[in-house]
Amino acid sequence: MSKLHLDKKIGIIGGGQLGKMMILEAKRMGFYIIILDPDPLCSAHSIADEHIIADFKDRIAIINLAKRCDVLTYELEHINVNALFEVENMGIAVYPTPKSLEIIQNKYKQNKELEKNNVSVPKFMSISSKEDVIKAADTFGLPLMAKSSLGGYDGRGNFLIATIEQSEEVFKILSGEVFVEEYIDFTIEISVLACRGSNGKVKVYPVAQNTHKNEILQETLVPANISDDIKDKAREIAAKTMEIFEGIGMFCIEMFVKKDGNVLVNEIAPRPHNSGHFSIEACITSQFANHIRAISGLPLGDVSLIKAACMHNILGEHGENGKAIIKNAEKALEISGVSLHIYGKKEVREKRKMGHITAIADTVENAQKAAKKAHKLIKIVAEN
Ligand SMILES: Nc1ncnc2c1ncn2[C@@H]1O[C@H](COP(=O)(O)OP(=O)(O)O)[C@@H](O)[C@H]1O
Ligand SMILES: [Mg+2]
Repeated sequence: MSKLHLDKKIGIIGGGQLGKMMILEAKRMGFYIIILDPDPLCSAHSIADEHIIADFKDRIAIINLAKRCDVLTYELEHINVNALFEVENMGIAVYPTPKSLEIIQNKYKQNKELEKNNVSVPKFMSISSKEDVIKAADTFGLPLMAKSSLGGYDGRGNFLIATIEQSEEVFKILSGEVFVEEYIDFTIEISVLACRGSNGKVKVYPVAQNTHKNEILQETLVPANISDDIKDKAREIAAKTMEIFEGIGMFCIEMFVKKDGNVLVNEIAPRPHNSGHFSIEACITSQFANHIRAISGLPLGDVSLIKAACMHNILGEHGENGKAIIKNAEKALEISGVSLHIYGKKEVREKRKMGHITAIADTVENAQKAAKKAHKLIKIVAEN
């Protein structure tokens, strides 16, 4: 009997833009979706079949959600992993598995696990005092990138230690467990999406090239402007990571490419990722479609690139705070190859991810030109 049946219920913890884009694919395949998110008007609210309004750490709410679903997934890693273990012990599938999430949601443990399995990561050490920072600076040199082990995203949770005078300040800015990494003077940043089905088969997407501004993703280009050798190396690292974590579902592996051609893993996301949005228009099967296929036991789709792509995030403009309005969408959409995604967040805030643009074209240069042109036009600002 086929596993695909119309009343199969998928629970998603998190109703932000990633949850919304998962739902758009899941609904195409006929699934029933229940989300859990504390915000009654979160991005995915208007398209979910049901919405449980609760905190991501709310154990009881997570268990109640799971009891009503055939499979549980999540769109963010900062959730109550102990509740997910309980759900798994109740016999309800959770993908990616709580075992992999427990390691990945802690950046220090993640680095340790990768190192143990011979995957290169920046040199790192745990710090809990000024003396530790001085020791790290002696060993790795300055600057150092300090990171909170738990809870970081979009650069929040990172602190660049540029001078030794900052060796105390770091503990005022970052809370909880903290570690430092050597600062990598990378030539480019890349990311690789990889998806593992329940039968253990892995699909690895084409390598994406990322530019960050203030540690927030600004632009993704595919194919990446690196040699085939480096691409192969990066895709092998992604496939190996899927084996290490036995991940079921979509993962994204962020990496640094160094001048000497070495590739280091920066961090892993056990979920669809911002740098993988290009796959919606540019690949035969998007990261969201393959995630839904993987967690529901279906075969994975072809991940080949149909066209070159450029993705730009649309963030809340500088100083904007209030009810969101979109300006010049019409003009942007007149540009050939441009698609616009608006997440439906009611409130704009400076640097908040409000939507994205993907342009596809025959060459990555043309895709970039179109995305840049569209991005210059479109603005998300607060209503006066
Ligand atoms: N060790 C490092 N050396 C140099 N730059 C780094 C290092 N770690 C992080 N960064 C920069 O900061 C960005 C955000 O850091 P990351 O660890 O990926 O945190 P987040 O969870 O916020 O995405 C990276 O994409 C990269 O540009
Ligand atoms: Mg990152």
